[in-house]
Amino acid sequence: MNQLVVIVATLFVPTTYGAAGGLWCYHDPSCDDTTWSTIASEHCNGSRQSPINIVSASAVGDETLTAFTFTKYGDNYTMKNIKNTGKTVKVELTSGVQVTGGALSEAYDSLQFHLHWGNGTSVPGSEHTVDGTRYPMELHIVNAKSSHNGNTTTAVADSTGLAALGFFIEAMPGNVTGSPAAWNTLTSYLANITLKDDIVNITHAISLDELLEGVDRTKYYRYNGSLTTPNCNEAVVWTVFKDPIKVSQDLIDLFSTTLHIDHNSTSALMTNVFRSIQPFNDWVVTTQGRPASGASTMCSSLGLMALAWMLLRV
Ligand SMILES: *[C@@H]1O[C@H](CO)[C@@H](O)[C@H](O)[C@H]1NC(C)=O
Ligand SMILES: *[C@@H]1O[C@H](CO)[C@@H](O)[C@H](O)[C@H]1NC(C)=O
Ligand SMILES: *[C@@H]1O[C@H](CO)[C@@H](O)[C@H](O)[C@H]1NC(C)=O
Ligand SMILES: *[C@@H]1O[C@H](CO)[C@@H](O)[C@H](O)[C@H]1NC(C)=O
Ligand SMILES: *[C@@H]1O[C@H](CO)[C@@H](O)[C@H](O)[C@H]1NC(C)=O
Ligand SMILES: *[C@@H]1O[C@H](CO)[C@@H](O)[C@H](O)[C@H]1NC(C)=O
Ligand SMILES: *[C@@H]1O[C@H](CO)[C@@H](O)[C@H](O)[C@H]1NC(C)=O
Ligand SMILES: *[C@@H]1O[C@H](CO)[C@@H](O)[C@H](O)[C@H]1NC(C)=O
Ligand SMILES: *[C@@H]1O[C@H](CO)[C@@H](O)[C@H](O)[C@H]1NC(C)=O
Ligand SMILES: [Zn+2]
Repeated sequence: MNQLVVIVATLFVPTTYGAAGGLWCYHDPSCDDTTWSTIASEHCNGSRQSPINIVSASAVGDETLTAFTFTKYGDNYTMKNIKNTGKTVKVELTSGVQVTGGALSEAYDSLQFHLHWGNGTSVPGSEHTVDGTRYPMELHIVNAKSSHNGNTTTAVADSTGLAALGFFIEAMPGNVTGSPAAWNTLTSYLANITLKDDIVNITHAISLDELLEGVDRTKYYRYNGSLTTPNCNEAVVWTVFKDPIKVSQDLIDLFSTTLHIDHNSTSALMTNVFRSIQPFNDWVVTTQGRPASGASTMCSSLGLMALAWMLLRV
């Protein structure tokens, strides 16, 4: 399990990869996401790449998308440490944290969570967008299918080997600061990890449930996609929750004003750490609800194809 934690975490935030040993990044045109399909071509140029823009009106109703069961999400001491990876902030979880249900095929072990952001609340930086709207931040909880027993090779070769839970973060209205308390506690560690590879243990009592407060976890979008960082393996069952987590603006701003992308404080601040929207051809996004009738499904998801077909026939 420890090995899987390390390797899966590395898949999300590696420092080097690929035959050429090149570096990927968010900031530099020589290694930013426009280059990933070339410098990490094995998967980043695939056909079910994440993130995507979710078109809410096109999401197909699926009655099997039931509630999840979250194990140890209420436990106060599941967060081991918090690290500046140079690409994100990552929190490693203890073993035994799990998610089941939600139409996942089996139990998945929750390994780590990390975040994506833009530049404070004024420049949003979520990875997924909904109807073109980008949120200030996005939290990703990374889970691996338990039956792979820590074998990364088989997990990333399995098209549903990983399950990612995506939560949007938006600014609380009004003049609130330092809220919610759990986010105040979590972000208090950022000052201890300002430089790349800095890592500190988390000693405060803080639970995943507290971080996710205010989100109705029975309402979500589901699609089959990929890791959003090289090597972009197409092994991820995505769950994107509809409700955002509300965090006060001062805490959101800390991410883009505290963390550096390299080992010294003269290096750039970590801003705009998200991948661009990927083309999503003919893949289906589902959500809670009854399946539409054949006719309306045709209209909403295959409208253009149906139109083309009719034109060809006349
Ligand atoms: C992606 O790149 C690989 C390796 O260069 C190539 O074999 C594959 O055909 C490419 N796939 C697509 C969809 O372009
Ligand atoms: C982020 O915002 C700050 C404050 O508005 C600005 O000084 C800085 O240049 C911005 N950074 C980027 C990368 O746009
Ligand atoms: C992972 O599974 C593959 C295929 O079953 C096997 O060849 C490999 O040795 C396993 N790796 C580990 C680390 O157990
Ligand atoms: C926010 O705080 C400022 C100064 O503290 C005050 O002038 C302003 O009215 C407050 N705005 C709201 C919406 O509470
Ligand atoms: C984090 O930094 C604060 C202030 O510098 C310090 O008091 C605290 O001990 C540090 N915590 C850890 C876990 O390093
Ligand atoms: C962090 O926690 C680990 C595991 O409990 C422990 O071995 C290590 O000594 C701790 N590090 C610090 C700096 O307290
Ligand atoms: C978890 O910590 C909070 C304070 O952060 C406390 O109120 C709560 O009782 C703790 N829960 C458990 C189960 O210990
Ligand atoms: C995702 O893939 C699984 C396994 O192939 C399939 O059962 C499921 O219907 C797919 N989900 C969507 C939303 O396409
Ligand atoms: C700090 O890092 C930059 C690159 O990010 C490098 O050019 C510079 O030499 C480093 N400075 C020190 C004192 O290490
Ligand atoms: Zn992510």
